[in-house]
Amino acid sequence: MKMLHRLPKKLLCRSFKQVIFIIAIIYFAHLNFLMFDIYPVDINKIIPSDRELMIGYQANQLNRSLDQFVIPTITNLEDRNKVYLERAQLVSKHCHALGDQGSYGELSKSPLHRLRWLTSRKLVMCFNAKVGTSSWLQYLMDTGYPGILNASRNWHGTAERYLKPSTGRTSPEAIQQLQEFDRIILVRDPFARIASAYRDKIRRRKMPGLNRHIVSSYRRLEDKSKGDLPTFEEFVRYLVDHTPTDDSIAEKRSHRTDRHWFHYYANCAICDIHYNIIAKMETIQEDTRYIKDKFNLVIPDLTWNNHHGTNSSSEEAAVQLFRDLPGDLTKALYIRYRMDFLMFNYTLDKYLV
Ligand SMILES: *[C@@H]1O[C@H](CO)[C@@H](O)[C@H](O)[C@H]1NC(C)=O
Ligand SMILES: *[C@@H]1O[C@H](CO)[C@@H](O)[C@H](O)[C@H]1NC(C)=O
Ligand SMILES: *[C@@H]1O[C@H](CO)[C@@H](O)[C@H](O)[C@H]1NC(C)=O
Ligand SMILES: *[C@@H]1O[C@H](CO)[C@@H](O)[C@H](O)[C@H]1NC(C)=O
Repeated sequence: MKMLHRLPKKLLCRSFKQVIFIIAIIYFAHLNFLMFDIYPVDINKIIPSDRELMIGYQANQLNRSLDQFVIPTITNLEDRNKVYLERAQLVSKHCHALGDQGSYGELSKSPLHRLRWLTSRKLVMCFNAKVGTSSWLQYLMDTGYPGILNASRNWHGTAERYLKPSTGRTSPEAIQQLQEFDRIILVRDPFARIASAYRDKIRRRKMPGLNRHIVSSYRRLEDKSKGDLPTFEEFVRYLVDHTPTDDSIAEKRSHRTDRHWFHYYANCAICDIHYNIIAKMETIQEDTRYIKDKFNLVIPDLTWNNHHGTNSSSEEAAVQLFRDLPGDLTKALYIRYRMDFLMFNYTLDKYLV
């Protein structure tokens, strides 16, 4: 009798715990989603394809290595140090001119979730979408947490969980590390990035809601027969309308539409986190070699060619896309992204006929 009485209570207790457990999972999954800052439809579609791209590339390029492009010597490394110093000085000059407008006020208030920590190598890296981030997260993970990525189906989510300070991003220890560690930022020509976002997100229909919005708002009557994909011009008109001309990061941030074209200087809190290594897609072979050697990173030679250099057809395609736009529209977009051009030493010239 006693036994029978006890049993249901035990069962009840167990299922109550299960319910709490499920609620907790849903809660954390939701929280994670907010933190990832990624469109939910995007994540599963894009991450595996990045990986597939890389694997496919490696299969085709097995015999090529970086050595055929760059022969490193001590002088070369010293030259690189000078390059990074000059790049940092240019950023610092523009930060100075921006004053408070360029700052989040305090390090703990800046978007630290965009940073990836590799504590064992004393480095912090700021990822900007569409600037080779999949490759870099692979290098950091393979160095710090070998084997983990191999078993993961969501590279970006996994990397976000591992590549952070154990004490939490806003802890005093982490803030201290931001001053002591080497700080790396990855950038590329701002318009080449916008063209790349157009190709990969808009034309490949990764953001169907945005596509519908752009077509319904920016398509002219005479172009109604052009189908459901926004043209590059329509996409740029959308960007121009939704990006403030004001250079202040507070303005940029409050009008932010998507991380794939969000300004580097605001995304990475460039005036608060003083990056000492500014790596560019245009010099990625030299920059990768330097970073690999300095931090002893695990970067297989095979993958080095996966980075797109200046001469890649994608950069040429970007120039072509912009040259087909009305010049005033290109200039209007430039005004909205000018800080990214100025700070990282890019110019508009090649985009105007
Ligand atoms: C790599 O080079 C070797 C010999 O040089 C050749 O036999 C092989 O087919 C090459 N592999 C690829 C993937 O090109
Ligand atoms: C900016 O670019 C110009 C021309 O490419 C170059 O000569 C100069 O050294 C660069 N400056 C910095 C700070 O990178
Ligand atoms: C990755 O995992 C698969 C199976 O889980 C294994 O066969 C393969 O050797 C692993 N590769 C590396 C580089 O660890
Ligand atoms: C750029 O690519 C073209 C053709 O793809 C090639 O002829 C040219 O030599 C390349 N330029 C450089 C600097 O590598």
